[in-house]
Amino acid sequence: MRNAGEARVRLSLGYNSVEPMKTLTIAVIAGDGVGKEVVPQSKRVLDAVAKKHGVAFAFQDFDWGADHFFRWGRMMPAGAIDLLQPCDAILLGAVGHPEIPDHTTLNGLLLPIRRSFDQYANVRPAYLYPGVKSPLAGLKGGEIDFVVVRENTEGEYAQVGGRVYALQPEEVAIQTSVFTRRGIERIVRFAFELAARRGKKMRVTSVTKSNALGYSMDLWDRTFSEVAGKFPEIQTESLLVDAAAMNFVRRPESFDVVVGSNLFGDILSDLSAALIGSMGLAASANLDPSRRFPSMFEPVHGSAPDIAGKGIVNPLATILSAAMMLEHLEMNAAARDVERAVAAALAEGKARTPDLGGASSTEEVTDAVLARLG
Ligand code: NAD
Ligand code: IPM
Ligand code: MN
Repeated sequence: MRNAGEARVRLSLGYNSVEPMKTLTIAVIAGDGVGKEVVPQSKRVLDAVAKKHGVAFAFQDFDWGADHFFRWGRMMPAGAIDLLQPCDAILLGAVGHPEIPDHTTLNGLLLPIRRSFDQYANVRPAYLYPGVKSPLAGLKGGEIDFVVVRENTEGEYAQVGGRVYALQPEEVAIQTSVFTRRGIERIVRFAFELAARRGKKMRVTSVTKSNALGYSMDLWDRTFSEVAGKFPEIQTESLLVDAAAMNFVRRPESFDVVVGSNLFGDILSDLSAALIGSMGLAASANLDPSRRFPSMFEPVHGSAPDIAGKGIVNPLATILSAAMMLEHLEMNAAARDVERAVAAALAEGKARTPDLGGASSTEEVTDAVLARLG
């Protein structure tokens, strides 16, 4: 693991023997709004599993975000990317403040990190936990179990464009999508490999809009077919994004791995979060599968200013994102422990924040998870 140091622990056997214990450096950006409430809860869970699994986490907190912007005029300092690069992983809360335009906050913090570290695979699982009610009638726990794989570095988010006659009545804005064969090929391949690793329905659904977007989405469709040819054991399906949205609602149980562009994946992953009962349960990983750079783990949700500061935000999306981080750091047993503890707490149903129909606080929900971690 990059930069994994060795903390020395002394066993109490009377030998003065020294055992190496792996220390993982985690960059922590709590960010704005509810990000500041959910991230500390994830750290509590990470500290608890660390003890059990013989590692230590060295958290490096970065107070970047809207407060930093109000003080310094930028969301993060000039050398921020260099500061993050040596870390083993990045844990992020949320970014966004009602008094700052969203394109300023997000283009000043979250999006440059995804791009600078080539985190091209945004993995967003949608699993209906037993005990949680989907807004769709009749679905039981486990009956929704799919993953949205979102291209995360190009497409509609490429930041190519500009303005002419800025701020004048005749203003013109151009925002160009950029789709590259390499970009499509690698995310589609990632989706197929994930379907094979999951070993569940063995199906990849590609989401495009090639009936209207005849250049970019045609390249996507052809690249998808080429990659699909290398995975004969995996079934494929191609849906237009409007039909995909309908089918997420109509037959969510049919999906396994769903791959789409940056914008389509963004929109569909809020829909899938709603289907599994709450935005407060939707985790995500921004992966650089090549491991050249640190990957970043964050909930799908944003800074939720409507509930920030009230102590009622659901911490589970961020805790499950931390579990995805453990898996990426090759601590599979620890990741499974956290996921099982979350599932058990949800199944019992005593500690629930208001988004899941309960009256518990953020901290009480974390306490319930910690109690099940043993
Ligand atoms: P949001 O995800 O913050 O909130 C949408 C709704 O879901 C709100 O009613 C909120 O209260 C609820 N919600 C979200 N997470 C919850 C949780 N964990 N527990 C309980 N309820 C939860 O989306 P929004 O309101 O469109 O955006 C708010 C701000 O966040 C904007 O500035 C937006 O740009 C930003 N944003 C940031 C990220 C990110 O940092 N990754 C993601 C999405 C939105
Ligand atoms: C998400 C968010 C971001 C995105 C925004 C805040 C830029 O909605 O992580 O889903 O669109 O990627
Ligand atoms: Mn989103």
